[in-house]
Amino acid sequence: MNTAHIPVITIDGPTASGKGTVSHIVAQKLGFHYLDSGALYRLTALSALRKGADPGDEHALAKLARDLHCSFSGEHIFLGQEDVSAAIRAEEVGNTASKIAALPAVRQALYSLQLDFRRAPGLVADGRDMGSVIFPHAPLKVFLTASVEARAERRYKQLIGKGFPANMADLLKDLQERDDRDTNRKVAPLKPAEGAYVLDTSAMTVDEAVGQVLGWYAALKKQHAV
Ligand code: DC
Repeated sequence: MNTAHIPVITIDGPTASGKGTVSHIVAQKLGFHYLDSGALYRLTALSALRKGADPGDEHALAKLARDLHCSFSGEHIFLGQEDVSAAIRAEEVGNTASKIAALPAVRQALYSLQLDFRRAPGLVADGRDMGSVIFPHAPLKVFLTASVEARAERRYKQLIGKGFPANMADLLKDLQERDDRDTNRKVAPLKPAEGAYVLDTSAMTVDEAVGQVLGWYAALKKQHAV
């Protein structure tokens, strides 16, 4: 099926930049589908941790990624029949996801699964390489970022709000390490895609960021570019 005519908005950026929240709301407002590509890396990581897979065995990890039996239903994410929406958000799973995401065979294994999310009337794709690798011809590409301090503070409030213990110094260190790994890996490193609008949300509310993305999209529509 040719899906080239189906509009895609890509929203990439570092961890805890708020892109998940912003992407979700933009998708809702436009009535578009939503791809949380990070969840696919997290699902692969969870599956690897549970199976005790060797973190150095790229091909075994790629096989796990290829054989993922996952499904998405609203806010819920399933691995097989099990609702793992909360389990994949654990810090250990996020860290493992960031490590296995550096392996080319794992990225390749998840490639076509991500393309399948492009369905009418449109898609908002959230990740690190949505605009640079997966949907390079997307009409609107956004790179959402925020200072590491602003992101650590948001994550801190999120964790405390959910009743989890949190330590600001540990969070800062963890974010910096993850940024480093995601930015400096050889395949699909985290960086703004060609033609992406860069949006620094350090001093912005979620509503303001959503408004900006929707404004860019509306402007493209007006020019008949989508
Ligand atoms: O967005 P997130 O924190 O849920 O993503 C988890 C990890 O997956 C992140 O550290 C990097 C990786 N990832 C990636 O490499 N490419 C993507 N498109 C999405 C996530």
